[in-house]
Formats: sequence, C-alpha cells, structure tokens
Amino acid sequence: MTKDPQDPNYDPADDPKVSTGKDMPDDLPNELPPETKTITFHQRLERNATLLLIASFLVVSVGGIVEIAPLFWLENTIEEVEGMRPYSPLELAGREIYVREGCYVCHSQMIRPMRDEVERYGHYSLAAESMYDHPFQWGSKRTGPDLARVGGRYSDEWHVDHFRDPQSVVPESVMPKYAFLAEARIDGTYVTELMEAHQMVGVPYTDEMIAEARADFVVQTDPMGDYDGLLERYPGAQVRNFDGQPQLTEMDALIAYLQMLGTLVDFSTFTPDASR
Ligand code: HEC
Repeated sequence: MTKDPQDPNYDPADDPKVSTGKDMPDDLPNELPPETKTITFHQRLERNATLLLIASFLVVSVGGIVEIAPLFWLENTIEEVEGMRPYSPLELAGREIYVREGCYVCHSQMIRPMRDEVERYGHYSLAAESMYDHPFQWGSKRTGPDLARVGGRYSDEWHVDHFRDPQSVVPESVMPKYAFLAEARIDGTYVTELMEAHQMVGVPYTDEMIAEARADFVVQTDPMGDYDGLLERYPGAQVRNFDGQPQLTEMDALIAYLQMLGTLVDFSTFTPDASR
C-alpha cells in the first residue's frame, strides 16, 4: 500500500485524506446556510428576464417619480411679477426669427445672481421673465454677451448696422452678418396660428388678442397708425419703424423683440418675495 498518488499501486480508498463519499450519511440536509439565501434570490432574479425587467422598472420608477412629481407644482415656483405680459405679435414673430437663426447658440438670456454678471448685465433674471417663452432661450453658451436685458441698450440704427455687418460697429466681432433680414418682407400671415400655438401651451392670449393679431402686427411699426388697442393689450409695447425702411421686414420684427427684452419688469420698484 502506498500513499503516493504517482505510484501505480496507489488506491484512493486506502488514502485517509481522500473522501470517497462512502462514509457520508445519506440524509445530508439539502439546505444552504441562511446567509446565502439573498444570493440565491438575486440569482433567480438575474436568470429570469421578465422578473428582472419588472424589478428594474420598479426601481427606476421611484427615481422617475422623485424627479417628475415636483413639475406638477411648477406654478408655485414662479413668483408673479408686475409688468410681465405675453409678447406682442411683432415681438413674437421676432422671437421666432431669433430661434430660427440659432442666436441662442452664441447668446444666453439668463443673468445669474452673481456679482460680475449683475454688474455687467443688470438685475439677475427672474423665472417670471421667461414664463411666456416656448421654448425658453436661456442658452448654455456665450460666444456673445447675454441678451436678457439688451432692450434699450442700443439705438435701432445701431442694431440695423450691427446685423448688416457686425464688424462695422465692433471690429473684433465674430458674429455673422444678417443683412438679408432687411430684405425679407413679412406681413404676419402666420402670426395668428403662431399665437394660437402659444395659447395651446399655456400663454394667456385672449380671443381678442388673437382676433386682432394681424392688425397689431402691422400697426406696431406704424407710429402714424391707430395703436391704442395694441398698447392696451400689450402695455409697454414700443411702436416705431424699427429698421428705418418703409416696408415691414424680418429686421423690424427681430429688433422689436430685442428692444423689449428685459424692459417689462421695473426693477426700481421690484422687491423679491423672500417667503417663496
Ligand atoms: C457665432 C456666434 C454668434 C451668433 C450666431 C450670433 N451672435 Fe450676436 N454676438 C456675437 C458676439 C461675439 C458678439 C459681441 C461682439 C458684437 O457686438 O458684435 C455679439 C453681439 C450681439 C449683440 C450686442 C450685445 C451687446 O450687449 O453688446 C446683439 C444684440 C446680438 N449679438 C444679437 C444677435 C442675434 C439677434 C443673433 C441671431 C440673429 C446673433 N446675435 C447671432 C456672436 C454671435
């Protein structure tokens, strides 16, 4: 008898270190220790695709509810501010041109409550100031300056020159030329539909505003016209020939939009409601 496994006469039955199972009791408990129970539960979960899918869905929906539920109470996060009104038809059309031309790619409209921002651009932006913006134009990139309060900062002529050839007024500017806007005539054909679309997503345009939309659109560039109704519907709307040309162009609409940006709220009388 030898205990060397390399030996040709080696028999494992004679080796006390090797168990052949013969000496084991037949009724071994077929149960795993309690600490492995969770592991087997998870193994079962991982091996059953349907079960895993259902369990993952449950876990993800908890996260989803935490993120989505507060949006149903979004209204109370917007402090009502005196002076805010929906865009006039011409301003709204100008805003569409702003979006179409991708101005938001280089310009933000969101002044953050930090000292350098407030000193450069003015009072920090309020939530209410973009509550009629669909989609909002906060932007995420500032190749050019923030435009949230550009209204009234420059003359209309400056804007016309700047759009025709930005380098003519700011020699180091990298802003592209938008001279074609002065040639693109508009008549507000689609402005009624545009306002209806905004009404659908919650902008409080009244039926009267929508009925008068095309007339208001034209009269805002005509200081000789009857614009009393326009001012009643859109307090603070600026009425003049924005691009200096007799015909109504996209340049008029875009400048009307820029010149009203940030001008509606009177910050000399505004006090933030700290209770919110
Ligand atoms: C490629 C980036 C770029 C795009 C696109 C762009 N701009 Fe600019 N914009 C600039 C830069 C840079 C400046 C600063 C230099 C200057 O005044 O031209 C500027 C300046 C301005 C200013 C003057 C702001 C101030 O406070 O001095 C206005 C207004 C403006 N842009 C409007 C627009 C509008 C409206 C559009 C879309 C039709 C537009 N920009 C598209 C880069 C851009």
